[in-house]
Amino acid sequence: FHIPVPKNEPILSYVSGSPEKTTLKRALTDARSQQIEIPMYIGGEKVYTDQRIPLSPPHDHQHILGYFHEGDAGHVEQAIQAALNAKPQWEQMSWEHRAAIFLKAADLIAGPYRARMNAATMLGQSKNVFQAEIDSACEIIDFLRFNVAYMGEIYQQQPISSQGVWNRVEYRPLEGFVFALTPFNFTAIAGNLPASAALMGNTVVWKPAYTQVYSAQVLMEVFQEAGVPDGVINLIYVDGPVAGDIIFKHPDFAGIHFTGSTKVFQNIWKTIGENIHLYKSYPRIVGETGGKDFVIAHASANPKAVAVGLLRGAFEYQGQKCSAASRAYIPHTLWEEVKNYMIEDLKTFRMGGVEDFRNFINAVIDERAFDKIASYIDRAKEDPAVTVVAGGGYDKSKGYFVEPTVLETKNPQSLTMCEEIFGPVLTVYVYNADNFEQTLELVDQTSPYALTGAVFAQDRYAIELASAKLKHSAGNFYINDKPTGAVVGQQPFGGGRASGTNDKAGSLLNLLRWVSTRTIKETF
Ligand code: SER
Repeated sequence: FHIPVPKNEPILSYVSGSPEKTTLKRALTDARSQQIEIPMYIGGEKVYTDQRIPLSPPHDHQHILGYFHEGDAGHVEQAIQAALNAKPQWEQMSWEHRAAIFLKAADLIAGPYRARMNAATMLGQSKNVFQAEIDSACEIIDFLRFNVAYMGEIYQQQPISSQGVWNRVEYRPLEGFVFALTPFNFTAIAGNLPASAALMGNTVVWKPAYTQVYSAQVLMEVFQEAGVPDGVINLIYVDGPVAGDIIFKHPDFAGIHFTGSTKVFQNIWKTIGENIHLYKSYPRIVGETGGKDFVIAHASANPKAVAVGLLRGAFEYQGQKCSAASRAYIPHTLWEEVKNYMIEDLKTFRMGGVEDFRNFINAVIDERAFDKIASYIDRAKEDPAVTVVAGGGYDKSKGYFVEPTVLETKNPQSLTMCEEIFGPVLTVYVYNADNFEQTLELVDQTSPYALTGAVFAQDRYAIELASAKLKHSAGNFYINDKPTGAVVGQQPFGGGRASGTNDKAGSLLNLLRWVSTRTIKETF
């Protein structure tokens, strides 16, 4: 076994005058000056339909980036068939060749495709340059490279043998096809869900969110150029229920790799349960879903570190990370200082389109998201327990812009402390500094989700207590850091409770879900 040892892809700075900035600016201009037609990819063929759906940047309604071609039930059938047809040859291919394809895909993104990947993510999903770079360059590259290393580790795991007996296990791909249902908020996750299953020898039907199609298309070009054979990854744009109705009734449905809302995932799980008698095998169900991620500060915490952690954790990418800080518990002894720091710093946050690299806050993804977030802000304003500390404004005339909003509540169970908003809204509950332990219990008891969470403290007993009391309240637990920004290979990512199956993206644990092992005993 020789596998290149992966290292995290360095984050480029895009400072003025840097070559990466020049290349990216050109890619943005090119992207804005053309209107592309985005096909589906079934069995390696580009498929165009007469259902052309326009795509606009979320921050600029006036501009049309292009049109994607929506498919119907027939395309879902074709994509499944293409995946099944490609399977025998793909699963026979030796692992080194599969690995080489995805290592090449990583290199293509690191080099010639980097600017296009970032431009597509910036324009299509309204991510600023830094958020795009850590997602559609570094994180997807890391997923691709680290997964190859984890695959190697898995294949080397073998049982013991003895004289006259040779035991071995074979890590076979699943029997059938895998369905990858992917979200808008990370191009890296959208790419990793089909790619990780394919790496382990599976063939995939990939349905991205309609709001991520623009960067999905670039990813698909990368996969093709890297040598992913026809039919191994089939990319379709089909209405969710239409696709689900066919996929979840198919006897060859072998598993789903999902990131999205808790509600959709629970419905999928129920549907799979109802259809369980139809399948050849029990399907693998792997999902990363919602969150209501917390930050709790202890009285010993550094107030500035808390404020910075909250601002970055809550407002980067407009709070549209499943890991985003959305509820905070701050002791009364620190609150004035934390609050003032946040208010002052928020004044420097520029809001606008991604084309101006100085804008930190861009638009939220679409009208449905905008209306939902605005409605939470409105209801908070009407709640006598809640005070608006900063922000609170929103405007969808040019793009879906929502101000970064900090709310303070006297009620730890108020609406915005409990429900996932998926937008730039942070609610703070100020607790009596003497009640740290009770507050930890409160955090745990009000955590139907368990994705990420953070504790800020200098006092080691406080950190230890928080870690123990919040054992099951977060799959990713951060000490003196914001709860977002897990790095592949460093912080395996995923949560429990209503946040998902905790099969840690970018880890050996995740890849294990895409194999079905056969044990072989041979006697001599
Ligand atoms: N992995 C991302 C983060 O940690 C969320 O999906 O922020």
